[in-house]
Formats: sequence, C-alpha cells, structure tokens
Amino acid sequence: MGRVLVVYDSRFGATRDIAEEISRSIRGVGLGTEVLSVGANPDLENYSAVVLGAPVYSGQLNTGLCDWVNKHADRLELMPTAVFVVGATMREDTPEVRAKLDTVLGQAICDHPNLGSAAPRGYFAGRVDPHKLIPQQRFVMKMAKLPSGDWVDLDVVHKWAIEIACKLVSRVSA
Ligand SMILES: Cc1cc2nc3c(=O)[nH]c(=O)nc-3n(C[C@H](O)[C@H](O)[C@H](O)COP(=O)(O)O)c2cc1C
Repeated sequence: MGRVLVVYDSRFGATRDIAEEISRSIRGVGLGTEVLSVGANPDLENYSAVVLGAPVYSGQLNTGLCDWVNKHADRLELMPTAVFVVGATMREDTPEVRAKLDTVLGQAICDHPNLGSAAPRGYFAGRVDPHKLIPQQRFVMKMAKLPSGDWVDLDVVHKWAIEIACKLVSRVSA
C-alpha cells in the first residue's frame, strides 16, 4: 500500500505542528506517511493519498499551497485527498467560522472538484505570538480584532487524522 503525503504551508509553525501531528497519527494506524513543507516542492511519485493544509492570513490562504496545488492538480484530482485549514478564528468553533473558512478554501484550492472530497475538512485553531509579528502584521491583527494566543489542540487534530486516515485507506484499497 502506498504512503500518505502530508503537505503544509506555515509562516510561524502552528500549521507545521498540526501537519506533524496528522502524520504521526496516520503512522499510528499503521500507514506509511511523510510530512513535507510546500516549500520543499514535493512531488507525488511515491504516494497514494495526500493531506494538505495551510493557515489563513487576512482571509486568504498563502499562495504557496495554491501554486503547488495548481501545479499538481491533474494528479491530485485522481488521488484520495483531504484538506485542513488553520486560523485564529477557529478558537471559537461555530458554523459561521467554518463557513468563512470554507469560502477561503473554496476560493484558494477547492475549486478543483475532487480536491479534498475523500474526507471531511479539518478546521483547526492556530496560534499567534505577538513577539514574532512585524508591526504591519500587528496592525492587521488589531484591525481584524484577532487576539494573541495559542489555541492549537493536538488532541482535536489527532481525532480528525484518525478519522480521515480510515477514509483515505479505504479509497486507496478500493
Ligand atoms: C497578520 C495576520 C493575519 C491573520 N488573519 C487571519 C484571518 O483572517 N483569519 C484567521 O482565522 N486567522 C488569521 N490569522 C491567524 C493565523 O491564521 C494563525 O496565527 C495561524 O496559526 C498561523 O499559522 P502558521 O503559524 O502556520 O503560520 C492571522 C494572523 C496574522 C499574524
């Protein structure tokens, strides 16, 4: 059975930590997996399923993941894929917050019809360390009324990863 590639984009490390937990959890159910930054420009040669995720900044995903998805769209469309998104707004998990993040995902990567359709989307709270931000980013945070804090909950991530691992596997072996 092929391996599951977890691809992430991250500026300050929260999405990387979440991607690593996803990969650990997938390994825990006996699947081969690798976690790579989109900056490493991974290719899909040795994988049979992909999990991909990115953080939201000012209501958008970084272009890095979008560019990678567009480059590999033909192949990704034929593979089981799951997507997740990370944002400070998910510190309060409401249907409205999820709907906004769905719109972000839709505009960025999920306009490819099958992308992420193998499993439910992951919506995870991130982290904001004000000491790591440049003044312009602090200003954006203030305007958006986003507080600083660390809301990353790896237990929530683990549960989602186990759930999607089963779905990705059943697609791979079907
Ligand atoms: C300048 C700035 C803008 C942000 N805009 C949003 C936003 O629009 N929606 C949201 O949910 N989170 C927003 N966030 C929070 C980030 O998504 C969150 O900190 C995330 O964990 C960052 O992930 P990373 O550490 O992997 O880069 C913003 C953070 C910063 C610093």
